[in-house]
Amino acid sequence: MNAVPTLEIHLSDDDLTAALRSDARLGLTSDPKWLPPKWFYDARGSELFEQITELPEYYPTRTERALLERVVGEIARGARAEVLVELGSGSAAKTRLLLTALTTEGPLKTYVPQDVSSSALRAAADEVAAEFPALAVHGVVSDFTETLHNLPRGGRRMIAFLGGTIGNLVPAERAEFLAGIHEVLEPGEQLLIGAGLVTDPAVLVPAYDDAAGVTAEFNRNVLHVLNSRLDADFVPEKFDHIAVWDADNEWIEMRLAATEDMTVRVRELDLTVEFARGEQMRTEISAKFRVDGLQAELTDAGFRTGQVWTDPDDRFALVLAGRV
Ligand code: SAH
Ligand code: AVI
Repeated sequence: MNAVPTLEIHLSDDDLTAALRSDARLGLTSDPKWLPPKWFYDARGSELFEQITELPEYYPTRTERALLERVVGEIARGARAEVLVELGSGSAAKTRLLLTALTTEGPLKTYVPQDVSSSALRAAADEVAAEFPALAVHGVVSDFTETLHNLPRGGRRMIAFLGGTIGNLVPAERAEFLAGIHEVLEPGEQLLIGAGLVTDPAVLVPAYDDAAGVTAEFNRNVLHVLNSRLDADFVPEKFDHIAVWDADNEWIEMRLAATEDMTVRVRELDLTVEFARGEQMRTEISAKFRVDGLQAELTDAGFRTGQVWTDPDDRFALVLAGRV
């Protein structure tokens, strides 16, 4: 019985700063400016995301949870996993459903949560280890786009990627990521993906622009991260939160808009960045899928898509894909 989780750190604090330096230099000197969404998630950003999941407008988490509650037995019986690896596990709140089913209806022995946010990962690993004393819990702090080859081998694995986080990758990143997962899995192992589906923009947009302003704070958090890690002098309150539905690309785009002309210093990069009043910087895409399109992406990456489950309003899908 192992109630003490082990932790493997592939991204030290220095590694994170080095990666942010390179992303910030590229994104802040591009036209239009942009930043990758993984930089939302320091300890404060991870907490803000948890608050988002409780908002009345943010339907994805509760929709995926209800769907999981309904079909988790089928997933467990289909996967018969001995090891559950979860990418971007965050608080792993919904994962408890999977862990329960995979241990009671299957042979699960090990849980490997993986996240870029070490604070979220440690908390989740501790909680799961306490709740499931018969499971070995082995956390991995890493970037899921870079370290798939570091995932543990041995024992039949299922990789879970829940919450719709697949939609935060741009299409080219997604293709590379799915092909990378296919490459590290052995024949017979499985990938479980949770993905948001294309739905009414009147439902989608408020989910990313809530009345209480929590998503706005989450969006601005990337500026706090730049200030603290790279000694920048952004004034986050001087940026407006924007969420728009891009109907051509079928994704929500979050941006930060400068409310006045500004000159920002990023001292660690010795970089001066000018913002014109009204200028918008992209901070996240959250792509929504059509079931056919998602299946095609998985097939292109080499997977055989077995089962697809959707909620009654067709807002969210769970797809179990097998490595052939
Ligand atoms: N799976 C959880 C959390 C989703 S929030 C859920 O369904 O509710 C997205 C999670 O992915 C966060 O915990 C964030 O820290 C993590 N994340 C984002 N980009 C990442 C990256 N490139 N590598 C690893 N983790 C990342
Ligand atoms: C983590 N990810 C799936 C969330 C999403 O819905 O794209 C992040 C988020 N952005 C704004 N609200 C939530």
